[in-house]
Amino acid sequence: MSILKVNALRSTADGQEILKGIDLEINPGEIHVIMGPNGAGKSTLANVLMGHPAHEVVSGEAIFGGKVLFDMKVDERAKAGLFLSFQYPQEVPGVTVDNFLRTSKKEISGIMPMLGAFKKDVKQHMEMLDMDQKYLERYLNLGFSGGEKKKNEILQMAVLSPKLAILDETDSGLDVDAIRVVYETVQKLATKDNAILVITHYNKILNYIKPDFVHILVDGKIVKSGDLSLATEVEEKGYEAFKKSTDVNGAA
Ligand SMILES: Nc1ncnc2c1ncn2[C@@H]1O[C@H](COP(=O)(O)OP(=O)(O)OP(=O)(O)O)[C@@H](O)[C@H]1O
Ligand SMILES: [Mg+2]
Repeated sequence: MSILKVNALRSTADGQEILKGIDLEINPGEIHVIMGPNGAGKSTLANVLMGHPAHEVVSGEAIFGGKVLFDMKVDERAKAGLFLSFQYPQEVPGVTVDNFLRTSKKEISGIMPMLGAFKKDVKQHMEMLDMDQKYLERYLNLGFSGGEKKKNEILQMAVLSPKLAILDETDSGLDVDAIRVVYETVQKLATKDNAILVITHYNKILNYIKPDFVHILVDGKIVKSGDLSLATEVEEKGYEAFKKSTDVNGAA
């Protein structure tokens, strides 16, 4: 059974149509990459799946873990194993990283994590991400550099171990070393039971993660899906060629 199956999804924000018929199926063990020009609707797709209130689902459906996704509240989606790493992570003064991680783990798993094991798990992932332990005592994202915020998002992913993690431009704002560390960690977090959907503009990350599928999203639609070679095609040709095509999923 697929983890996520999206059918003919259309959405609006502020009265304007943004997603114009998205079909997407993600199975356990798969890594998918979505690329596309600015304003195409990539973050919108991520936000609609997570349940952002600014977006209205007009038609279409999504099944997540066997359940109708759009019938679920945001917290139910998170508890069912959906995770979104934001393009622009929020600062939350007053809540430390440590507290946030522990509380979200408890809320999502339904049980209080065992302190020792939890601490060890967090420490291990912070080391993997080349993050100093002192960040645990800082307020969530407050005053964090762009790169530190993104690492902190992946730390959350590591700790929560979602069924489907959607990473919206986690690469933006990362220096070359951080890109390697972050995406190597993401690849290590991939298992045969979970799935990862990576939104990116940056081919360099493909040195570190190995997607099974690459999708090109243009003007609210997936205009082409393929393997890794599609990312190379984008790098060579840009999006113009895809914008002109009305070709869906490679079919004429
Ligand atoms: N809450 C909102 N209200 C109004 N318009 C919105 C809202 N969210 C997104 N949009 C519009 O939807 C379109 C798609 O935006 P989106 O953020 O999904 O693009 P994107 O593909 O993620 O682009 P980028 O690569 O620049 O991150 C844009 O024209 C944007 O202005
Ligand atoms: Mg975006």
